Amino acid sequence: MPPHDFASDNHAGVHPAVLEAIAAANGGHAASYGADEWTERALETFRRHFGPQASAYLVFNGSGANVACLDAVLLPHQAVICTDTAHLHVDECGAPERIAGAKLLTVPTAHGKLAPDDLSRWDARRGDEHSVQARLVSITQSTELGTLYTPAETAAIAERAHAMDMLLHVDGARLANAAAALDLPLAALTTEAGVDLVSFGGTKNGLMFGEAMIVLRPELAPHAKFVRKQLLQLNSKMRFASAQFEALLGGDLWLENARNANAMAARLRDAVEASGVEVIHPVEANAIFARIERAAVERLLDSSDAAHPFYIWDEREDVVRWMCSWDTTPADVDEFAAAVASLR
Ligand SMILES: Cc1ncc(COP(=O)(O)O)c(C=O)c1O
Repeated sequence: MPPHDFASDNHAGVHPAVLEAIAAANGGHAASYGADEWTERALETFRRHFGPQASAYLVFNGSGANVACLDAVLLPHQAVICTDTAHLHVDECGAPERIAGAKLLTVPTAHGKLAPDDLSRWDARRGDEHSVQARLVSITQSTELGTLYTPAETAAIAERAHAMDMLLHVDGARLANAAAALDLPLAALTTEAGVDLVSFGGTKNGLMFGEAMIVLRPELAPHAKFVRKQLLQLNSKMRFASAQFEALLGGDLWLENARNANAMAARLRDAVEASGVEVIHPVEANAIFARIERAAVERLLDSSDAAHPFYIWDEREDVVRWMCSWDTTPADVDEFAAAVASLR
């Protein structure tokens, strides 16, 4: 088996309970496109986590969930406010612009988090037909830089957005990690904080594939199901995506997986800081960003006994990203931390 690495939480495999759920769903025939009993139960599970009004639409991937959320609520002249590190902006190959036709208005941030005052930057052009009109704010939880929004911070953004006639979307590819870190239910970070739409991630937290577009106020997106189909995100053999979500969210698997990833990141941060490595963002979920000399990085990536690949995040700033996963073990962390320490 290839060793566990610290490159991405997408590098991890599928949790055995999820694989078992797929296998268990593989008997006989079932109606397609979500008209099956697994999907009915999965959608009920989403309502249990996000509130009775939540409408979840399962999709194949996170970019698909994000773009579908945008497309479901935006008119052609409307725009999205997000950070300049948002996955939407830097890692979706312009899909929001091409597919949803949405201009992204980006804000530089210190640690990947928007603040309510950032929403006012485009206010002067409100009503001006020569300028796009900001209609949606998108924040990422946990952020691309491994930080978190508290429910109070999210609520403050939601309140400001709503006061300015904007909606709030959460890219929750790692929402489970945020909930686990804050020790709060998923609804406390979203529904109860005034969030309107969520992209909920399953893949990074132990699924084979599968994310969800969740509309928390269904009156906002009456066309959501048509948008999912037009954006090619409607799975015909939906039962296999739904069975996975049932396994993840039906009990505490989502929480256990996320807690492990977070705990391993904290363990790695403590170990590398003890050997003098500079960690540049607060480690609040399952990601660590560290500044480390180029020569050391090269030796670490080349070293045959440090078989734990990772990404160089910012070459100019000598910043690397180390990501922990649902299946990262203390032994993985200790071995990698020892390799880092030995190069210093
Ligand atoms: C913050 C964030 N949003 C969304 C995604 C989902 O991307 P994908 O389309 O690869 O599933 C990712 C994956 O890396 C992510 O980190």
